[in-house]
Amino acid sequence: MFAEIIGTGHCLPKQSVSNQDLEQTCNTTSQWIEGRTGIKHRHIASSHETTSALAEKASLNALDDSGVSPGEIDLIILGTTTPEKLFPATACLLQSKLGADNAFAFDVQAVCSGFIYALSIAEKYILTGKARTVLVVGADVFTNLLDWNDRSTCVLFGDGAGAVVLKYSDYSGILTDCLYSDGRYHDILHVPGSIRNGTLINGSGMVEMDGKSVFKFAVNSLYEAANKVLDIAELSIQSVDWFIPHQANVRIIDALADKLCIQKQRFIVTLENCGNTSAASIPIALDIGYRDGRIKKGDLIMLLAVGGGMTWGATLLRF
Ligand code: UT7
Repeated sequence: MFAEIIGTGHCLPKQSVSNQDLEQTCNTTSQWIEGRTGIKHRHIASSHETTSALAEKASLNALDDSGVSPGEIDLIILGTTTPEKLFPATACLLQSKLGADNAFAFDVQAVCSGFIYALSIAEKYILTGKARTVLVVGADVFTNLLDWNDRSTCVLFGDGAGAVVLKYSDYSGILTDCLYSDGRYHDILHVPGSIRNGTLINGSGMVEMDGKSVFKFAVNSLYEAANKVLDIAELSIQSVDWFIPHQANVRIIDALADKLCIQKQRFIVTLENCGNTSAASIPIALDIGYRDGRIKKGDLIMLLAVGGGMTWGATLLRF
């Protein structure tokens, strides 16, 4: 018994903001942003493009692709760092929007690793027979957390959502995964604020990041996770058709490709037009790669994620 991805979808907010646009409001240059990160544009959500609204559109695309109706979903897991409300879970808001009345729903918080954490949990529900059809979503309006005067972070992120429909199957879809966290690094990438006595933000509600430390951590942890899943599955790196890494910086992806001795053309990269969309970045890249014809049924795919926590991991799946 396996869990197979039978549909994918994504959604980006309407407004695309270029590096040149940012030059007008922030002490930065288009050249610096593109040269240091690979990003040219990012999509920024309007006030009605909330986390659940983006998640809804991505989910409807994935459901349409799979031929599954909302009533057939029995579990919704949504990875997000920007829940729409403090509670209930954004997954419940999504459930209501979709009319997925037969499902139960919850959120997962693992920052940019949120989607592969959610996918891993979904697979376990399927393997234990507790669910047959699971909607797995990564959705973030990460720009809500940005200090637009901090050029070292505000130019990096964008908003979006990606979704997959995962179903019980005899087809060996998800082969294996490995997930990690190390809380000792909690403050190299974080939003330190909290809620106290009904005061919405006690401390900063904006992203703070030690970019260089996160960069190094990302390259090393993704490298280890990639080798670990291949070891578990007893597969060679050459057998992987596509690598879909978290999209944070093209230099992280290039360094990882070099370390793994893999051609960069085997990585699906969406940074140029999307920036870093946090938990949404991997399912967006998966859907883009599938819809533009690069990813084909039967391809072996490695998902690679790293994010605040620090959290990281990898998933090996046959599409
Ligand atoms: O989802 C995971 C989250 N994030 C990541 O994975 C990000 C990981 N880190 C990175 O991608 C990179 O560290 C950054 C892109 C954030 C920064 O690149 P860097 O090569 O590490 O640059 P830096 O922080 O060392 O800054 C180099 C220079 C500095 O100027 P000085 O001190 O050398 O004069 C910065 O002030 O670049 C300056 N700088 C900028 N200049 C123009 C930093 N941000 C900007 C900017 N525009 N936006």
